[in-house]
Amino acid sequence: MNENAIKIDGLGFSYGKLKVINDLSLEIPRGTSFGLLGPNGSGKTTLIKLLIGLLKPSCGNIQCLGQRPSFSNAIMRGYMPQLPSLYTELTVRHNIDFFARIYGLKYKKQREERVDEVIKLVDLWDKRKTQVMHLSGGMKQRVSLGCAIVHNPPLIFLDEPTVGLDPDVRVKFWEYFRTLTNAGVTIIVSSHTTDDAAHCDKLVFLRQGQIIAVGTPDELRSATGNANTSLEDAFLYFIRKTGEVQNAQ
Ligand SMILES: Nc1ncnc2c1ncn2[C@@H]1O[C@H](COP(=O)(O)OP(=O)(O)OP(=O)(O)O)[C@@H](O)[C@H]1O
Ligand SMILES: [Mg+2]
Repeated sequence: MNENAIKIDGLGFSYGKLKVINDLSLEIPRGTSFGLLGPNGSGKTTLIKLLIGLLKPSCGNIQCLGQRPSFSNAIMRGYMPQLPSLYTELTVRHNIDFFARIYGLKYKKQREERVDEVIKLVDLWDKRKTQVMHLSGGMKQRVSLGCAIVHNPPLIFLDEPTVGLDPDVRVKFWEYFRTLTNAGVTIIVSSHTTDDAAHCDKLVFLRQGQIIAVGTPDELRSATGNANTSLEDAFLYFIRKTGEVQNAQ
């Protein structure tokens, strides 16, 4: 598919004097799962917050489905933060229903059906009447994912969604993400694990707020000269390569 869901041009962002995103340009095609990979502090969360309009760029441009990011725009609200931000005194069902309401599922019957569907999808049916404060960390992650997707957003931004999840739940999530991208939804997902990365259609390797490589998992592996290498080794290869280029300048 040629159409871009997201277009980023010369993006820069600093927290005070700390430059976190540095002259970053990127195009993300519609209907793809796009992985942001990079070590702690490389700028993954900051980039996601810029994409959804929670932070304003210091320079450069971002277009999400042809619009400037703004968190008041419902299309930017398919956001699952790195740390779950839930109403812990409320039940699982009430949390997901709350986000369904504020994100525009007006009709009660339709909303209730969708909320039930999402609770089953995140595998928390047995816990639907449990207060979130009594859930485990991985279960809270699952509620948080449910809140991000309940209103069927066209763009979904997931900041390390699979941390702490059981392998079978992780597989189920990725199956669901595939059905969404097949339906034209674009998913931006940050991750540390190369297990997640392998599921993505396309990846960007980030380091110190800069892109050091972009491509499909196969392209990135092949670029190392060994198509069978792991994505972890491919990442290290690009880090070394960037270092060599910088040293030669
Ligand atoms: N609110 C903030 N104020 C000041 N500096 C910040 C703030 N949030 C993040 N930073 C800094 O910005 C840089 C990028 O942080 P960011 O959270 O985007 O990285 P990340 O790639 O998401 O890391 P992680 O893998 O640990 O989640 C880090 O150096 C971090 O210390
Ligand atoms: Mg982060």
